Amino acid sequence: MTINAHLDHLALGSPDPEALAKFYAKALRNEAQLTEAGWMVTGPERKLLICEGYAKELKHFAYGMSESSLASLRAKLQSQGVKIEPTTSPYLVGDAFMLTDPDGNRSLYGVSEKANFGDGPYRARLQHTALATTEVDALIHFYRDIIGFSVSDNVLDDEGNMRACFLRSDEEHHALAVFQAPRCWFDHHCYEAGDWNLIRDWADHLSTLDIELKWGPGRHGPGNNLFFMIHDPDGNWVEISAELEVMNGRPVGEWQHTPKTLNYWGQAFLRS
Ligand SMILES: [Fe+2]
Repeated sequence: MTINAHLDHLALGSPDPEALAKFYAKALRNEAQLTEAGWMVTGPERKLLICEGYAKELKHFAYGMSESSLASLRAKLQSQGVKIEPTTSPYLVGDAFMLTDPDGNRSLYGVSEKANFGDGPYRARLQHTALATTEVDALIHFYRDIIGFSVSDNVLDDEGNMRACFLRSDEEHHALAVFQAPRCWFDHHCYEAGDWNLIRDWADHLSTLDIELKWGPGRHGPGNNLFFMIHDPDGNWVEISAELEVMNGRPVGEWQHTPKTLNYWGQAFLRS
């Protein structure tokens, strides 16, 4: 059972919100518009809010779902005595609320519809986000046991310590990943293109803008997705992915904490 939700949008802080918004407009073929809430950067199935802040600041990440799923989630959290704070977002309708995890990361939950992939060129839906933490077990407890995400895959070291966990909020392999790391940071966010050929098209498009790939193309073990990553001007990792596993009831997977787990094809970035 999951919470029947999808990653709806992210809010990023930046010392130069306009430059960051314009980067995401150009690099990811979005529109950027300055509003009272901040820079709203939108494209097909892609929504970011960019506000004044520090570089690589994740102000919040937001999950959208149906009204009935939101009501069930709210009732479940209230029955557990979890502190939920009312909030608003220009992207969510209805009575959205916010939760704060043990690291202080804020996640929002509200009503929004999950978009279809469609068949347009350069399609890529905002799909998952990832957090690095010094307390991976505490974050897993929060998102899995309290909120109700489901675990698809765990990554364990030789001593059996949890090093990474991939959590889903619907049938897609992960909508959230958490990595054990020497300190806490916003690790990355990802757009799912669905089709391997679109990895090629996005890389070609980025090349015309002189934006180089910083990692990949490669293939992740958990999720089995093809990917590459770039940096935005603030140093945030941005991932384009394709063919992310869709879960069909298989049991939770267990992976070794080795470079090959994070990239079958070569170089990997181990957070710890
Ligand atoms: Fe990712």
